[in-house]
Amino acid sequence: MIVTITAPRRLRGTISLPGDKSISHRAVLLNAVASGEATVTNFLVGADCLSTIACIQALGVRVERHEDMVRVYGMGLRSLREPVDVLDCGNSGTTLRLLAGMLAGQNGMFAVLTGDASLRSRPQHRIVAPLRALGAWLDGRDQGNRAPLAVRGAHLHGGAYDLPIASAQVKSALLLAALFGDGPLTLTGRTDGRDHTERMLAAMGAAITVDEPTIRLMPLDRPDALQPLSLRVPGDPSSAAFWWVAAAIHPDAEVTTTGVCLNPTRTGALDALRAMGAQIEVANQRDEGGEPVGDVTVRSSQLCGTVIEGALIPRLIDELPILALAAACAEGETIIRDAQELRVKETDRIATVAAGLSALGAAVEATEDGMIIAGGGNLRGTTLDSYGDHRLAMTWAIAGLVAAGETVLHGAEAVGVSYPEFWNVLGRIRE
Ligand code: S3P
Repeated sequence: MIVTITAPRRLRGTISLPGDKSISHRAVLLNAVASGEATVTNFLVGADCLSTIACIQALGVRVERHEDMVRVYGMGLRSLREPVDVLDCGNSGTTLRLLAGMLAGQNGMFAVLTGDASLRSRPQHRIVAPLRALGAWLDGRDQGNRAPLAVRGAHLHGGAYDLPIASAQVKSALLLAALFGDGPLTLTGRTDGRDHTERMLAAMGAAITVDEPTIRLMPLDRPDALQPLSLRVPGDPSSAAFWWVAAAIHPDAEVTTTGVCLNPTRTGALDALRAMGAQIEVANQRDEGGEPVGDVTVRSSQLCGTVIEGALIPRLIDELPILALAAACAEGETIIRDAQELRVKETDRIATVAAGLSALGAAVEATEDGMIIAGGGNLRGTTLDSYGDHRLAMTWAIAGLVAAGETVLHGAEAVGVSYPEFWNVLGRIRE
């Protein structure tokens, strides 16, 4: 799909966000092995989370969906059935990595996990090596580093693992495997990725303790040990960030996003935008689905350059493409470093973001682990491609709201991975 975007005079509106992608995945995966029925509302009806539902159904669990309401009929820890075909995770790294962990402990079960060309190119050694250390049997292409990944469920034991990268997918794969082990799992090191799995496991009755950076999980001692968890999924801050940046860089804008998940492991983009001088107001803070949420309003702002690095990176990793656009529109230089993980996302987002911003007329230098962005604005519309990456598609759409002339986006349908309503919302807030 090709979409042409031009700059509107004003941006105004209140946006109720789709459910958080990470929490939607976990709500289905964890409830699938709980004992009883759970109802999940404001579920993200994006392609990634639908891949998770399809895989869980292929494992014999009844899951029903009516629009954004999902009912999962968990039958307990040992209820998964061997799938009769390969499990297609589509574009979704979270589906593949978390499922690999969960299936590693299903004694004797054989399963093959695969996905689209992007997912098959992404590194899996990061989960394969530590899962093998717990006694799991996994293998895949490229010496176990790429999908298709084959898993033969095995008897797992507990253990200790020092996480070398701040990946919530790796952390969660290990926690899900350890539920089925015969001893405690202790995680140390870079456990600072998003903590939705830990929160949800605790709410479902698992014996998990977090004493940063150490996480300790006891295996479940009974097949019915996990209680089902019904919840309303909070709004996705990674989707909200597109509207926050749109409002901050447009000269006449005020946009409110309601019900945003404000879990501190996810609010790095708000911190970075504040450091850049964005006008941000957070109101109506409350708790929803075991997570802090609130309404976030952003107005047209004079942004300045900043440095985004270190412990901030995992708290905004998915927002870096849109923050790079904000940086291109700011006064002065922005440096992004310690973000080498961007190279192994749905695309190599250091290369693709730097190329797109350069095509729009920004001065950007791609580095090994980030970017140096000169700032100064004056973007010119051009022809861009999403390369199938949902966050690139949305970043270039927002660029089109401030660039001179027309921005023509190829592969605009990629937004469906995490935000199917994106183009409708964009149409609604333009004036
Ligand atoms: C996610 C974790 C992050 C993030 C991804 C979703 C999750 O990936 O980029 O979009 O739901 O656990 P990593 O674990 O690779 O950092």
